[in-house]
Amino acid sequence: MIGIFDSGVGGMTVARAVEQLCPGFPLIYLGDLARTPYGSKSPAMITEYSHRNTEFLLRQGAKLIIIACNSAASAASGFLRSHYHQSIIDVIFPAVAKAAAVSLNGRIGVIGTRATINSGVYEQRLQESRPECRVYSQACPLLVPLVEEGWMERRETKMIVKKYLHPLRDKQIDALILGCTHYPLLKKIIAPRIGCSVHIIDSSVEVALHLKQILDADPDLRTALYAPDIPSRFFVSDTPSPVHGLADKIFGRTVLLEKTDV
Ligand code: DGL
Repeated sequence: MIGIFDSGVGGMTVARAVEQLCPGFPLIYLGDLARTPYGSKSPAMITEYSHRNTEFLLRQGAKLIIIACNSAASAASGFLRSHYHQSIIDVIFPAVAKAAAVSLNGRIGVIGTRATINSGVYEQRLQESRPECRVYSQACPLLVPLVEEGWMERRETKMIVKKYLHPLRDKQIDALILGCTHYPLLKKIIAPRIGCSVHIIDSSVEVALHLKQILDADPDLRTALYAPDIPSRFFVSDTPSPVHGLADKIFGRTVLLEKTDV
Protein backbone atom coordinates (compact mmCIF):
# COMPACT_ATOMS: atom_id res chain seq x y z
CA MET A 1 0.00 0.00 0.00
CA ILE A 2 1.03 3.60 -0.59
CA GLY A 3 0.51 5.77 2.50
CA ILE A 4 -0.45 9.42 1.95
CA PHE A 5 -1.01 12.03 4.62
CA ASP A 6 -2.05 15.63 4.87
CA SER A 7 -3.54 17.86 7.55
CA GLY A 8 -6.94 17.55 5.89
CA VAL A 9 -8.53 17.25 2.48
CA GLY A 10 -5.73 18.91 0.49
CA GLY A 11 -3.74 15.71 0.16
CA MET A 12 -6.77 14.12 -1.48
CA THR A 13 -5.81 16.12 -4.59
CA VAL A 14 -2.55 14.12 -4.50
CA ALA A 15 -4.38 10.83 -3.83
CA ARG A 16 -6.70 11.51 -6.76
CA ALA A 17 -3.79 12.29 -9.10
CA VAL A 18 -2.00 9.10 -7.95
CA GLU A 19 -5.14 7.03 -8.58
CA GLN A 20 -5.37 8.42 -12.09
CA LEU A 21 -1.70 8.12 -13.04
CA CYS A 22 -0.85 4.93 -11.14
CA PRO A 23 -3.95 2.74 -11.23
CA GLY A 24 -3.77 -0.58 -9.39
CA PHE A 25 -1.69 0.78 -6.49
CA PRO A 26 -3.94 0.86 -3.41
CA LEU A 27 -3.68 3.84 -1.09
CA ILE A 28 -4.09 4.43 2.62
CA TYR A 29 -4.93 8.06 3.14
CA LEU A 30 -4.84 9.95 6.42
CA GLY A 31 -6.26 13.46 6.77
CA ASP A 32 -5.39 14.80 10.21
CA LEU A 33 -8.52 16.93 10.47
CA ALA A 34 -8.37 16.98 14.26
CA ARG A 35 -5.24 19.13 14.03
CA THR A 36 -5.67 21.10 10.81
CA PRO A 37 -4.41 23.64 9.79
CA TYR A 38 -0.75 22.68 10.09
CA GLY A 39 0.41 25.82 8.31
CA SER A 40 -0.06 28.03 11.36
CA LYS A 41 1.76 25.66 13.75
CA SER A 42 5.44 25.59 14.71
CA PRO A 43 7.88 23.30 12.86
CA ALA A 44 8.31 21.22 16.04
CA MET A 45 4.57 20.63 16.35
CA ILE A 46 4.17 19.84 12.64
CA THR A 47 7.05 17.36 12.90
CA GLU A 48 5.37 15.64 15.84
CA TYR A 49 2.07 15.34 13.94
CA SER A 50 3.88 14.09 10.83
CA HIS A 51 5.70 11.47 12.90
CA ARG A 52 2.40 10.19 14.33
CA ASN A 53 0.76 10.17 10.90
CA THR A 54 3.65 8.17 9.43
CA GLU A 55 3.50 5.66 12.30
CA PHE A 56 -0.22 5.22 11.67
CA LEU A 57 0.25 4.63 7.93
CA LEU A 58 3.08 2.14 8.49
CA ARG A 59 0.90 0.25 11.02
CA GLN A 60 -1.76 0.01 8.30
CA GLY A 61 0.76 -1.62 5.97
CA ALA A 62 2.12 1.30 3.93
CA LYS A 63 5.44 0.49 2.24
CA LEU A 64 6.00 3.95 0.78
CA ILE A 65 4.92 7.28 2.21
CA ILE A 66 3.89 10.41 0.33
CA ILE A 67 3.92 13.56 2.43
CA ALA A 68 1.03 15.24 0.62
CA CYS A 69 1.32 18.42 2.65
CA ASN A 70 3.85 21.15 1.92
CA SER A 71 3.77 22.39 5.50
CA ALA A 72 4.61 18.90 6.79
CA ALA A 73 7.20 18.37 4.06
CA SER A 74 8.93 21.67 4.81
CA ALA A 75 9.11 20.94 8.55
CA ALA A 76 9.45 17.17 8.77
CA SER A 77 10.84 15.58 5.56
CA GLY A 78 14.38 15.49 6.92
CA PHE A 79 13.31 13.99 10.23
CA LEU A 80 11.08 11.35 8.62
CA ARG A 81 13.73 10.35 6.06
CA SER A 82 16.36 9.93 8.76
CA HIS A 83 13.97 8.03 11.04
CA TYR A 84 12.48 5.47 8.63
CA HIS A 85 14.03 3.19 6.04
CA GLN A 86 10.87 3.19 3.88
CA SER A 87 10.79 5.42 0.79
CA ILE A 88 9.41 8.82 1.64
CA ILE A 89 8.53 11.26 -1.10
CA ASP A 90 7.09 14.70 -0.78
CA VAL A 91 5.38 17.35 -2.82
CA ILE A 92 8.21 19.89 -2.88
CA PHE A 93 10.90 18.35 -5.08
CA PRO A 94 8.58 17.53 -8.05
CA ALA A 95 7.06 21.03 -8.03
CA VAL A 96 10.51 22.66 -7.91
CA ALA A 97 11.76 20.50 -10.79
CA LYS A 98 8.75 21.42 -12.91
CA ALA A 99 8.98 25.15 -12.16
CA ALA A 100 12.71 25.24 -12.89
CA ALA A 101 12.06 23.48 -16.19
CA VAL A 102 9.10 25.51 -17.47
CA SER A 103 10.00 29.05 -16.41
CA LEU A 104 11.49 30.92 -19.37
CA ASN A 105 12.39 34.15 -17.56
CA GLY A 106 13.46 32.54 -14.24
CA ARG A 107 10.97 34.59 -12.23
CA ILE A 108 8.95 32.12 -10.17
CA GLY A 109 6.16 32.75 -7.67
CA VAL A 110 5.32 30.46 -4.76
CA ILE A 111 2.18 30.56 -2.65
CA GLY A 112 1.74 28.42 0.44
CA THR A 113 0.91 28.35 4.12
CA ARG A 114 2.84 30.48 6.58
CA ALA A 115 4.82 27.43 7.76
CA THR A 116 5.89 26.55 4.21
CA ILE A 117 6.76 30.10 3.16
CA ASN A 118 8.59 30.89 6.43
CA SER A 119 10.67 27.72 6.05
CA GLY A 120 12.21 29.13 2.84
CA VAL A 121 12.30 25.62 1.41
CA TYR A 122 11.08 26.59 -2.06
CA GLU A 123 13.58 29.47 -2.44
CA GLN A 124 16.39 27.19 -1.33
CA ARG A 125 15.49 24.28 -3.62
CA LEU A 126 14.72 26.52 -6.60
CA GLN A 127 18.02 28.30 -6.22
CA GLU A 128 19.87 24.97 -5.98
CA SER A 129 18.13 23.80 -9.11
CA ARG A 130 18.38 27.06 -11.08
CA PRO A 131 20.81 29.47 -9.40
CA GLU A 132 19.93 32.54 -11.45
CA CYS A 133 16.20 32.37 -10.74
CA ARG A 134 14.30 34.95 -8.70
CA VAL A 135 11.71 33.59 -6.31
CA TYR A 136 8.76 35.61 -5.02
CA SER A 137 6.87 34.03 -2.15
CA GLN A 138 3.55 34.83 -0.61
CA ALA A 139 1.98 33.23 2.47
CA CYS A 140 -1.79 32.78 2.13
CA PRO A 141 -2.88 31.64 5.61
CA LEU A 142 -6.63 32.08 5.07
CA LEU A 143 -6.91 29.78 2.07
CA VAL A 144 -6.71 26.38 3.82
CA PRO A 145 -9.61 27.12 6.23
CA LEU A 146 -11.68 28.46 3.30
CA VAL A 147 -11.12 25.26 1.33
CA GLU A 148 -11.85 23.06 4.37
CA GLU A 149 -15.15 24.97 4.70
CA GLY A 150 -15.95 24.24 1.05
CA TRP A 151 -15.90 27.96 0.16
CA MET A 152 -14.09 27.46 -3.16
CA GLU A 153 -16.56 29.44 -5.28
CA ARG A 154 -17.49 32.16 -2.80
CA ARG A 155 -17.09 35.85 -3.62
CA GLU A 156 -15.19 36.39 -0.36
CA THR A 157 -12.67 33.70 -1.34
CA LYS A 158 -12.14 35.30 -4.75
CA MET A 159 -11.46 38.66 -3.07
CA ILE A 160 -8.98 37.12 -0.64
CA VAL A 161 -7.18 35.25 -3.44
CA LYS A 162 -6.95 38.49 -5.42
CA LYS A 163 -5.47 40.31 -2.42
CA TYR A 164 -2.87 37.58 -1.79
CA LEU A 165 -1.84 37.47 -5.46
CA HIS A 166 -1.62 41.23 -5.83
CA PRO A 167 2.06 41.54 -4.70
CA LEU A 168 3.06 38.84 -7.20
CA ARG A 169 1.30 40.43 -10.15
CA ASP A 170 3.91 43.11 -10.85
CA LYS A 171 6.89 40.76 -10.47
CA GLN A 172 6.63 39.43 -14.05
CA ILE A 173 6.59 35.85 -12.88
CA ASP A 174 5.93 33.28 -15.60
CA ALA A 175 5.44 30.30 -13.26
CA LEU A 176 3.48 30.01 -10.02
CA ILE A 177 3.89 27.03 -7.70
CA LEU A 178 0.78 26.09 -5.76
CA GLY A 179 2.84 25.26 -2.67
CA CYS A 180 -0.07 23.81 -0.71
CA THR A 181 -2.04 20.75 -1.68
CA HIS A 182 -5.31 22.52 -0.86
CA TYR A 183 -4.73 25.11 -3.58
CA PRO A 184 -5.45 22.93 -6.65
CA LEU A 185 -9.05 23.17 -5.42
CA LEU A 186 -8.77 26.93 -5.99
CA LYS A 187 -6.97 26.71 -9.33
CA LYS A 188 -9.99 28.01 -11.25
CA ILE A 189 -10.01 31.23 -9.26
CA ILE A 190 -6.23 31.58 -8.97
CA ALA A 191 -5.48 31.24 -12.71
CA PRO A 192 -7.41 34.28 -13.99
CA ARG A 193 -6.21 36.42 -11.07
CA ILE A 194 -2.50 35.78 -11.60
CA GLY A 195 -2.77 36.09 -15.39
CA CYS A 196 -3.30 33.54 -18.12
CA SER A 197 0.33 33.68 -19.31
CA VAL A 198 1.59 32.34 -15.95
CA HIS A 199 2.24 28.61 -15.87
CA ILE A 200 0.51 27.18 -12.79
CA ILE A 201 2.30 24.27 -11.18
CA ASP A 202 0.02 21.90 -9.33
CA SER A 203 2.16 19.88 -6.92
CA SER A 204 -0.46 17.11 -6.73
CA VAL A 205 -0.03 16.26 -10.41
CA GLU A 206 3.76 16.64 -10.25
CA VAL A 207 4.15 14.30 -7.28
CA ALA A 208 1.96 11.66 -8.98
CA LEU A 209 4.15 11.90 -12.11
CA HIS A 210 7.24 11.62 -9.91
CA LEU A 211 5.83 8.51 -8.21
CA LYS A 212 5.12 6.96 -11.61
CA GLN A 213 8.77 7.51 -12.62
CA ILE A 214 9.95 5.90 -9.36
CA LEU A 215 7.69 2.88 -9.91
CA ASP A 216 8.76 2.53 -13.55
CA ALA A 217 12.43 2.59 -12.51
CA ASP A 218 12.12 0.11 -9.63
CA PRO A 219 10.40 -3.17 -10.61
CA ASP A 220 10.78 -4.65 -7.09
CA LEU A 221 9.03 -1.69 -5.48
CA ARG A 222 6.40 -1.77 -8.20
CA THR A 223 5.70 -5.45 -7.55
CA ALA A 224 5.57 -4.89 -3.77
CA LEU A 225 3.00 -2.10 -4.13
CA TYR A 226 0.89 -3.31 -7.05
CA ALA A 227 -2.33 -4.90 -5.74
CA PRO A 228 -5.28 -4.01 -7.97
CA ASP A 229 -7.71 -6.15 -5.94
CA ILE A 230 -7.09 -4.32 -2.66
CA PRO A 231 -9.29 -1.24 -2.19
CA SER A 232 -7.89 2.09 -1.06
CA ARG A 233 -8.91 3.30 2.40
CA PHE A 234 -9.39 6.86 3.57
CA PHE A 235 -8.98 7.77 7.23
CA VAL A 236 -9.57 11.07 9.01
CA SER A 237 -8.84 11.97 12.62
CA ASP A 238 -12.05 14.02 12.86
CA THR A 239 -15.16 14.37 10.72
CA PRO A 240 -16.32 17.98 10.47
CA SER A 241 -19.40 18.14 8.24
CA PRO A 242 -18.00 19.71 5.02
CA VAL A 243 -15.35 16.99 4.66
CA HIS A 244 -17.63 14.31 3.21
CA GLY A 245 -18.87 16.55 0.41
CA LEU A 246 -15.35 17.75 -0.33
CA ALA A 247 -13.93 14.23 -0.53
CA ASP A 248 -16.72 13.15 -2.90
CA LYS A 249 -16.14 16.24 -5.02
CA ILE A 250 -12.37 15.67 -5.26
CA PHE A 251 -12.69 11.99 -6.21
CA GLY A 252 -15.84 12.33 -8.31
CA ARG A 253 -17.45 9.45 -6.43
CA THR A 254 -18.69 8.62 -2.94
CA VAL A 255 -15.71 8.10 -0.65
CA LEU A 256 -16.04 6.29 2.66
CA LEU A 257 -14.13 8.24 5.33
CA GLU A 258 -13.17 6.14 8.34
CA LYS A 259 -12.64 7.95 11.62
CA THR A 260 -9.47 7.02 13.46
CA ASP A 261 -7.30 8.28 16.31
CA VAL A 262 -3.69 9.07 15.58
N1 DGL B 1 -2.29 20.91 2.40
C1 DGL B 1 -1.38 21.46 3.37
C2 DGL B 1 -0.13 21.97 2.67
O1 DGL B 1 0.16 21.53 1.58
C3 DGL B 1 -2.12 22.45 4.19
C4 DGL B 1 -1.46 22.71 5.48
C5 DGL B 1 -2.32 23.24 6.56
O2 DGL B 1 -3.03 22.45 7.18
O3 DGL B 1 -2.22 24.43 6.83
O4 DGL B 1 0.61 22.78 3.19
